[in-house]
Amino acid sequence: MTLLVTGGAGFIGSNFVLDWLRDHDEPIVNLDSLTYAGNLQNLGALEGDARHHFVHGDIADQPLVERLLAEHGVRAIMHFAAESHVDRSIHGPDAFIQTNVVGTFRLLEAARGYWGALEAPAKDAFRFLHVSTDEVYGSLSGTDPAFTELNRYEPNSPYSASKAASDHLVRAYHHTYGLPVLTSNCSNNYGPYQFPEKLIPLVIHNALAGKPLPIYGDGQQVRDWLHVGDHASALRAVLERGVPGETYNVGGWNEKPNLEVVHALCARLDALQPRADGQSYASQITYVRDRPGHDRRYAIDASKIERDLGWRPAETFDSGIDKTVRWYLAHGDWVAAVTDGSYRAWVSKNYQ
Ligand code: NAD
Ligand code: DAU
Repeated sequence: MTLLVTGGAGFIGSNFVLDWLRDHDEPIVNLDSLTYAGNLQNLGALEGDARHHFVHGDIADQPLVERLLAEHGVRAIMHFAAESHVDRSIHGPDAFIQTNVVGTFRLLEAARGYWGALEAPAKDAFRFLHVSTDEVYGSLSGTDPAFTELNRYEPNSPYSASKAASDHLVRAYHHTYGLPVLTSNCSNNYGPYQFPEKLIPLVIHNALAGKPLPIYGDGQQVRDWLHVGDHASALRAVLERGVPGETYNVGGWNEKPNLEVVHALCARLDALQPRADGQSYASQITYVRDRPGHDRRYAIDASKIERDLGWRPAETFDSGIDKTVRWYLAHGDWVAAVTDGSYRAWVSKNYQ
């Protein structure tokens, strides 16, 4: 019994791998092409651990995936690998189409061939869990009800369109071939090991570095925030108890305007590591040009996963933000290695 995790050197994938191996002995094969977002330092605690087998490779390399599935007798694929940053998708969509659409298609093809040749009961037990986003549902007005699994897909950015395309492929492989797929659509994650291009780690890093805290537009865009540890526990619930062919919304019941999130981060930093001049970090807030096509509001109705699978987030926004700010304060070396680029040397130093 082995899990194949794709993108397990990224933010959510590495948190999932670390959490999994804390509680399970079932090994993980971790396939990651180590783009700028992949960082093996996230998995440093697993060095020498035989339960973690890292493979440097691309999900679009179908023969490689076929070999890994067969060699390791994989019983489930946890598919995290993606290009994940909306701003990057606006500046350069190509990689998003290649990995999120073509890569997912190649992975599905490899899974279909492998699963098709399995005998019961392994065939019945096999799962393909596709980790997706709430952004596929588009943007809500302030008064709209939160997204349910029945909302129409209306992706607005190249990133969300590429994720929507991959969701449709996953759905089609169930409908057409019977591949036992599960899809999760999750809201904004935060927590340890998040690349400091995303709002929360970027604000913490810039605050401590004395740099501006950039607020796009009026800062009143709303996101639902979920601690990454809660996302990992939701994915375990979906893997263990989810019904093939179903989709599950995952969220934190924590809708917040961006400006409120940034003020909450500044308040924690003011308390834990005050500025030398006694001023609040909030004085570094700077309004900048809005993101093109910026979605106004996302909100997740996570009733289905609670009702059907018994999952609810453990962290509140306050407890999760407090833990996260403390983590970044305690891991300045990790942030420095990411921001000065030296994390990329880790692969050659430790794995070759
Ligand atoms: P991330 O950008 O931090 O990590 C992505 C990982 O995938 C990296 O390790 C990267 O090297 C790897 N990767 C990229 N292209 C690859 C390829 N072609 N082959 C193999 N590996 C490749 O992303 P994340 O924030 O951890 O997100 C993980 C998944 O969760 C994504 O599918 C994303 O769409 C989804 N998601 C993210 C959030 C969020 O708030 N971050 C919320 C909901 C869903
Ligand atoms: O909703 C889930 C999605 O959340 C995931 O699918 C994506 O992979 C993930 O990147 C995230 O997308 P967002 O675009 O919501 O996250 P980001 O951290 O980039 O931005 C959060 C909000 O903060 C958004 O409204 C844009 C705004 N923002 C962001 C940055 C980086 C700023 O105002 N200033 C900034 O500097």
